[in-house]
Amino acid sequence: MAPSLNILQFLFVATGILAPSVAAAPKSAMGNTTSSTIKWTDCSPDPSIELKCANFSVPLDWSKPWGQQINLGIGMIPAANASQRIGFLMTNPGGPGGADIKPGGSGDLGLSVTGRYWRSTQVHQYFDIVGPDPRGVASSSPLECDPALWTTASQLSLFPEDENSYNQLVNAWKAAGRSCAQKSGEKLNHVDTLSVAKDFEAIRVALGDEQMTFMGFSYGSQVGLQYAELYPNKIRAMALDAVLDHTQDEIYFLETESGGYEATLNQFFIWCARDSSCAFHNATDFPSKFDNFITAANHNPIPAPQCSNVSFPFYPCAASVSGYDILRFLQELLIVSRPDNGLGVPGLADTSSYLQLAFEGNDASIFATPNTTSSTSGDYPYTAVVCQDWYHSNLSWPEFQIKMVFANIISPHTRGQGEFWRLQVRCMNWPAPVVNPARSIAPTFQDLTLKTPVLLVNAFYDPETAYPFSVNLQREFGERNAVLLSRNGSGHTSWYSMGDTHFAMNDYLINLKVPQPATILQS
Ligand SMILES: *[C@@H]1O[C@H](CO)[C@@H](O)[C@H](O)[C@H]1NC(C)=O
Ligand SMILES: *[C@@H]1O[C@H](CO)[C@@H](O)[C@H](O)[C@H]1NC(C)=O
Ligand SMILES: *[C@@H]1O[C@H](CO)[C@@H](O)[C@H](O)[C@H]1NC(C)=O
Ligand SMILES: *[C@@H]1O[C@H](CO)[C@@H](O)[C@H](O)[C@H]1NC(C)=O
Ligand SMILES: *[C@@H]1O[C@H](CO)[C@@H](O)[C@H](O)[C@H]1NC(C)=O
Ligand SMILES: *[C@@H]1O[C@H](CO)[C@@H](O)[C@H](O)[C@H]1NC(C)=O
Ligand SMILES: *[C@@H]1O[C@H](CO)[C@@H](O)[C@H](O)[C@H]1NC(C)=O
Ligand SMILES: *[C@@H]1O[C@H](CO)[C@@H](O)[C@H](O)[C@H]1NC(C)=O
Repeated sequence: MAPSLNILQFLFVATGILAPSVAAAPKSAMGNTTSSTIKWTDCSPDPSIELKCANFSVPLDWSKPWGQQINLGIGMIPAANASQRIGFLMTNPGGPGGADIKPGGSGDLGLSVTGRYWRSTQVHQYFDIVGPDPRGVASSSPLECDPALWTTASQLSLFPEDENSYNQLVNAWKAAGRSCAQKSGEKLNHVDTLSVAKDFEAIRVALGDEQMTFMGFSYGSQVGLQYAELYPNKIRAMALDAVLDHTQDEIYFLETESGGYEATLNQFFIWCARDSSCAFHNATDFPSKFDNFITAANHNPIPAPQCSNVSFPFYPCAASVSGYDILRFLQELLIVSRPDNGLGVPGLADTSSYLQLAFEGNDASIFATPNTTSSTSGDYPYTAVVCQDWYHSNLSWPEFQIKMVFANIISPHTRGQGEFWRLQVRCMNWPAPVVNPARSIAPTFQDLTLKTPVLLVNAFYDPETAYPFSVNLQREFGERNAVLLSRNGSGHTSWYSMGDTHFAMNDYLINLKVPQPATILQS
């Protein structure tokens, strides 16, 4: 589903490597924003880049437009070349809980609007890039929960061995959820993605653009999807990269995400056998060794000595790591889209070295669950949004046991570990209502013809938003209203990898050039 890009953000900080730089950035200038009612102020942390910020007020509850208002923070990079400016491009980086406005934005290469990456791309030449932090996130009236209760719950095993451990897990999440209701109050009840889509529309209107140009990544694709459901006639162009499928229920999600993670891990095994930069290149039957390592680490967790080192980027974190923990963070590491990933962050070779270090048995720190220390952690909205956007069954212990058996059958290497497994446990007794449950969009679109079809983009091997999500969503939109562009490769999102898919997406957003249906690109 929606990847928290947390691990990458940590690693960016850890390695301090910057995004591929471009030739001298052209001088930025504002284009035609005369009709805009949004007041921008300069918020660049670094004079070499131009970054604007604004506050924007929306109703907490869209059914009560004159009721309590909340503040949204918006970041914006003005188009690099005013003379060819098309308009605004609104975006969401994923999560849910991913923020577009980050302090020190110039320093992190960032996949957020405040990061450097956007400035190196062609779309920046044509659009003012607008990244609102969604409601509940970072600068937009952030949700608050109790970090200590959250840490306790997060560090319990999601694959309990007996009924007592299961009850402990369920109760720990119940307590963590209750702390969010206490600390966040009414805000917790209004972070569903339909409300976020209405916020984006209000911002578009205030910006003064006649039509919406949108690009969403991962969870950001759900913001786009729900915008399309509500305001289909307002869309100029909409590119959704690494597609989340809000038409399907929870069980389908477990099966599909597991399948995507399993398939991506198998690609990693194949890459290891072929490429000598993999630490397991010479290992015979690496997949079986991998399974044995995971089982052994579940019985005897591996120490995480760096978790008490204040200079370690994940500090503070859990003192030891189980096999399931390794599977959890390996999923996040596999979101990179090329062995060398092109972003200067750890690629597959580094991932293989982390695994080797863990499997040697003395240091699995990189796979340890971090303590939640912030009273406004992005993990709170990450959970709260999904709990309002899907029903989650309240499972008894026997039902949960069956689910674990089932997960091992359908995904023998990865065993069900993944985002929707984790979220099901978290959401089971969540104290806010499911106001925006999954539903088919086919009835909405069957009598509609969008001026420009939505562009759905997905890699064949995506460990989080699995390929079947995009195939299904294309069917739901119908042939007239969406085109699926596939990338024959691994990783979560395709635009960031700067290959042919990136340029096809730019061509769509800038020139409204729609790829042929069923196009497959190799990079
Ligand atoms: C700005 O855009 C508006 C709406 O598209 C248009 O009516 C107006 O003429 C434009 N102004 C300038 C200075 O280009
Ligand atoms: C938005 O509001 C917050 C809280 O009042 C303030 O700290 C911040 O400076 C404002 N940002 C802008 C861009 O006005
Ligand atoms: C800005 O766009 C115009 C029109 O496409 C082009 O002629 C000009 O070279 C561009 N300027 C820069 C600095 O890229
Ligand atoms: C991290 O969380 C663990 C488990 O709750 C706790 O024992 C430990 O004290 C925490 N570490 C820090 C530095 O807060
Ligand atoms: C694999 O074996 C070759 C030949 O013995 C050796 O040169 C290479 O370093 C080994 N690679 C790894 C990752 O152990
Ligand atoms: C603590 O972490 C830093 C940063 O990762 C590292 O350079 C240092 O060697 C670590 N210290 C110890 C004692 O391992
Ligand atoms: C979930 O099931 C437990 C045990 O049957 C029950 O105590 C709890 O109230 C249920 N929670 C919800 C939200 O239905
Ligand atoms: C995908 O890439 C693989 C490996 O490069 C190649 O063998 C295969 O034919 C490609 N499949 C498609 C559908 O392009």
